[in-house]
Amino acid sequence: MPDESKPNLHAEAPIAVYDSGLGGLTVVRAIMRLMPSESIVYFGDTARVPYGNKSARTVGLFASQCLQFLARLHPKIMVVACNTVSATAMPALLREFTIPLYGVLEPGAAAAVRIARRRFPAGDCSIGLIATEATVASRAYPMAISRIDQHVHVAARACPLLVPLIEEGRDGDSPLVKIVLEEYIDPLRQISPAALILGCTHYPILSDAIAAAASPDTILVDSAAETAALVRNRLQSLELLRTGSAGKLSCYVTDQGQRFEAIASRFLSRPVGHPVWVDPESIETSTMESI
Ligand code: DGL
Repeated sequence: MPDESKPNLHAEAPIAVYDSGLGGLTVVRAIMRLMPSESIVYFGDTARVPYGNKSARTVGLFASQCLQFLARLHPKIMVVACNTVSATAMPALLREFTIPLYGVLEPGAAAAVRIARRRFPAGDCSIGLIATEATVASRAYPMAISRIDQHVHVAARACPLLVPLIEEGRDGDSPLVKIVLEEYIDPLRQISPAALILGCTHYPILSDAIAAAASPDTILVDSAAETAALVRNRLQSLELLRTGSAGKLSCYVTDQGQRFEAIASRFLSRPVGHPVWVDPESIETSTMESI
């Protein structure tokens, strides 16, 4: 008898990537670079972004709805490319879904400790973290980091204005972005952290401007590349890696605006095409029916 609780995964199936908005495209870009033959289905909950100022309960509910939508597309693996969801809702999501599911927080935390320890092999040292209010309030990063190394301390700063600026299409050359970064990063610059975690998948879009605002010897940690490496390892060990022709990217969004296509194409340096609109009410309803 086949085990119905285990999904039937195959190499031709896509990798599903989910974020509250555009930021998860940083993970898509890293996956495309590392595994160009993989097809990707991307879901951006653009109607309900930002998640970073919402309660853990709301974030968990939205995440469950969006991942249920993606699971119906039969992916071989799902990536929560959103730090806020990874920090606040992963245990419940891992219980809910049988398809292999990974967040961005653990790979980012592990990379930050590796970098810090390369610079300071022994004793206490500190790492900076910039993230959304919900991610900072969850304390998920300090907990993950102290599980790896109790002597690595985290100085965290919530940066609530950055996500709206990025979703607006502002880049690191914007004078407004520079002023906001100066304000947020200045207290962290004072402590010269060994590494600075970009604890929000939107932030790598501003990485040059963030590096300019941080102290010159601080190394930025972008969990996108780390997460892509983890996904490749998992697919390899499950014998689910696809080889051959270039994979396809299909995008689904919950807002009908034109902004996603323009910003995504610019960000991925390739035309992204029209995203498919998903009515947020329909995913809310189908989740309620399945409860
Ligand atoms: N993608 C979210 C994260 O990585 C930031 C955007 C939001 O607040 O929804 O935390």
